[in-house]
Amino acid sequence: MSSSTVISNIATLVTNDPSLGDGSPLGLVQDAAVVIEGDRVVWTGETSKAPATDNQVDAGGRAVLPGFVDSHSHLLFAGDRTAEFNARMSGRPYSAGGIRTTVAATRAASDAELEANLTRHLTEALRQGTTTFETKSGYGLTVADEARALRIAAAHTDEVTYLGAHIVAPDLADDPAAYVALVTGEMLDACAPYARWIDVFCEKGAFDGEQARAVLTAGKAKGLTPRIHANQLSYGPGVRLAVELDAASADHCTHLTDADVDALAHSRTVATLLPGAEFSTRAEWPDARRLLDAGVTVALSTDCNPGSSYTSSVPFCVALAVRDMGMTPDEAVWSATAGGAAALRRDDVGRLSPGARADLVVLDAPSHVHLAYRPGVPLVTQVWRAGRRAV
Ligand code: NIG
Ligand code: FE
Repeated sequence: MSSSTVISNIATLVTNDPSLGDGSPLGLVQDAAVVIEGDRVVWTGETSKAPATDNQVDAGGRAVLPGFVDSHSHLLFAGDRTAEFNARMSGRPYSAGGIRTTVAATRAASDAELEANLTRHLTEALRQGTTTFETKSGYGLTVADEARALRIAAAHTDEVTYLGAHIVAPDLADDPAAYVALVTGEMLDACAPYARWIDVFCEKGAFDGEQARAVLTAGKAKGLTPRIHANQLSYGPGVRLAVELDAASADHCTHLTDADVDALAHSRTVATLLPGAEFSTRAEWPDARRLLDAGVTVALSTDCNPGSSYTSSVPFCVALAVRDMGMTPDEAVWSATAGGAAALRRDDVGRLSPGARADLVVLDAPSHVHLAYRPGVPLVTQVWRAGRRAV
């Protein structure tokens, strides 16, 4: 039998289990303890009631919350886009076109370079509390380059997304129909074995509603579950397509009509908001308040990519969401943990109650509210993943 460990003297514990603690969605327990056995949580509650264990860890009156679930990132890339960012901060608008710069750099990179780049970003994210992450292809756009990106990703996470339909490959820019045929045919065949999800960038300058439907439908037929980049730069059909196809998540959701919000509210499609993208492109913020008030499940993620959101920090996104998107600190923390898990249709992560994977973050602060209250401060002081101290 594996040994048991209690982490006790936790000032505020976020369980995300409303049946525990204060009964709120965060299931907050004060003066709490968590008992871990192997890679699982086996008990949570007040320190005074904790069962005896083999090992004891004193949290020193700090806050503990579930590890962040970053359900949207683009980490299979090479090169960077500093020049584009600089130009944008001098007034040039963001467009999907910059993706081509990263496609050229990614194709030219060796497997070892891509792997090293991925590992570097994962280490960075882990230090900031991310214990589950999704990542995608989309900077290869040939059969071999997309399959290689996904093969490398699959060695690091189960949450791998095939995004051959990021933009029309530059080589086929004159023939988008031929590119969609490739993405839904030979490229899908080569990529599906490594992926759980299929995604498409449904936007002007990328793929329209009918092309997006063709991509997601083909992926579904191959056993992949849809998620979608939708309504980021403009209004469009993406969100409603997501709901129609029962996508796990519609991501960005910055430009929404009332019909879009209503469709999301009556579906099990999560709205994943990516404030790093609006921050780094100086764009209008998505309205989280409107979505939450309508009853939509909201996730918060980084969208970490070299073009529109080069941050791996979930705490930064939480702070932005509270400051600029109308979320309360409790809502933002829920969305960055349980919300991310919902967007990945996972119930083993994003919560700290019996049976969950023992993924947790210890903050050098007495409560989770400090993530938004003390923006930019490195509060993550310990990270445990699958029952082991990782940071
Ligand atoms: O999620 N929206 C499309 N894809 C990325 C941006 C990719 C890039 O600019 O390289 C995003 O923002
Ligand atoms: Fe993205």
